[in-house]
Amino acid sequence: MAANKKLLILPGDGIGPEVMGQVQLVIDWMDKRRAVTFDVETGLVGGAAIDAEGSPLADATMEKASNADAVLLGAVGGPKWDELPFEQKPERGLLRLRKEMELYANLRPALVFDALVEASTLKPEVVKGLDIMIVRELTGGIYFGEPRGIEDLPDGQRRGINTQVYTTNEIRRVAAVAFELARKRGKRVTSCEKANVMESGVLWRQEVQKLHDESFQDVALSHMYADNAAMQLVRNPKQFDVIVTDNLFGDILSDEAAMLTGSLGMLPSASLGDPDKHGRRQALYEPVHGSAPDIAGQDLANPIASLLSFAMALRYTFDLAEDADLIEQAVQRVLAGGLRTADIMSPGAAKVSTVTMGQAILRQLDQMAA
Ligand code: IPM
Ligand code: MG
Repeated sequence: MAANKKLLILPGDGIGPEVMGQVQLVIDWMDKRRAVTFDVETGLVGGAAIDAEGSPLADATMEKASNADAVLLGAVGGPKWDELPFEQKPERGLLRLRKEMELYANLRPALVFDALVEASTLKPEVVKGLDIMIVRELTGGIYFGEPRGIEDLPDGQRRGINTQVYTTNEIRRVAAVAFELARKRGKRVTSCEKANVMESGVLWRQEVQKLHDESFQDVALSHMYADNAAMQLVRNPKQFDVIVTDNLFGDILSDEAAMLTGSLGMLPSASLGDPDKHGRRQALYEPVHGSAPDIAGQDLANPIASLLSFAMALRYTFDLAEDADLIEQAVQRVLAGGLRTADIMSPGAAKVSTVTMGQAILRQLDQMAA
C-alpha cells in the first residue's frame, strides 16, 4: 500500500470557501468511487486567518503546508483587510507559502473548451482550440527583491521602492520546467522579458538561451519582449505553446491569457518546487481567480477553476492521470450540456449556481465511472 496522500486545504477568503467546498465533494467522491483515499486537513489563510489567528498565515499552518503532499488553496484578500499595513495583508499569507515552500514554477494553462468559445470576448476563430501554458517564475523578481519599501525624503516627498532581481539559478530552474513541459506538448517555448530596458531582462534572455543550447535543442526557443507578448496574446494567441516569464510579467500575462478562455473562473494553476530524492515536488494548487468579494457568499462563483486545480494535483503530485482526465472530461461534458455559472453565461445556456454546477459535475463523474 502506498503511503496516504496528504492534502492540506486552505479555503481562504471571499468565494474561496464556496469553491473549495465543491472540491471537497469531489475528493469524497474519489474516496468512495475510485478507492483513492486522501488524508485531508484544513487550515486558515489570508483574511480568515487574520481574523481568527492574528496573522495571514500561522506558523503551524505553514508547517502543515510544508509537510503535505499538496496544498489546495482557494483565494485570499478582500476589502475588509485592504487598509492593513503591507506585512499584515491577506496576500502575505499566500506569498509566504510560495516563498517558504520554494514554489518557483507556476504553471498556468489557458485552455479554451469548445463549449465556451462563445464566452470569450475574442472572435471564435482566434481562440477555438487554444491550449497554451504559461510558466511564471514565482519566488523571485520584483515581488521579493530588496531593497523595498516606502521612505520619506528630506524635501517632504515620499519614495516607493521595489527591486527586480534575478540570479542565474533562478532563471535556469524555471526555464528548465518550461522546456520539459514543452517536450510533452508542442515543443515550443517563448521566453518573455524586457531585455530592451532591463538588465535583469538581458540576463534572463542570455541564461534561457544558454540552457536551451546546452540541454534542450530539441525544443524551439524564441524570445519576445513582454509588451509585445501582451499584444500577441490577443492578436494571435495560438502562435504560443509554452510561455516562460518572470513573476510580475507572468502575473499580468496570465490574467490576460485567462480571459482568452472566457473567464478567470476557468483557470487552474499549479505551483511547484524542486523534486526531492523521490521525484516528488512541493506543490500548491489554486485557481488563478481571486476572492471576488463582490459575489462571495451568494452561491454564484464558478467552481471549475478550483476543480481543475485539483485535477492538476492528481496529475502532477499524485501521478493519477486517469483520474485527472476524468475530472477534466466531466467538466467538458457538463459545459457541453449547456450549464453555465454567471461568469461564463451565454445566450441559450442555463445559468446555474456554484452548488448546482458542482452537483452536475459529480453526476457526470458518476456516469463516467459507472
Ligand atoms: C496571482 C495573484 C497574486 C499575485 C496576489 C493575490 C498576491 O494576483 O496569484 O496571480 O500577484 O501573485
Ligand atoms: Mg494575478
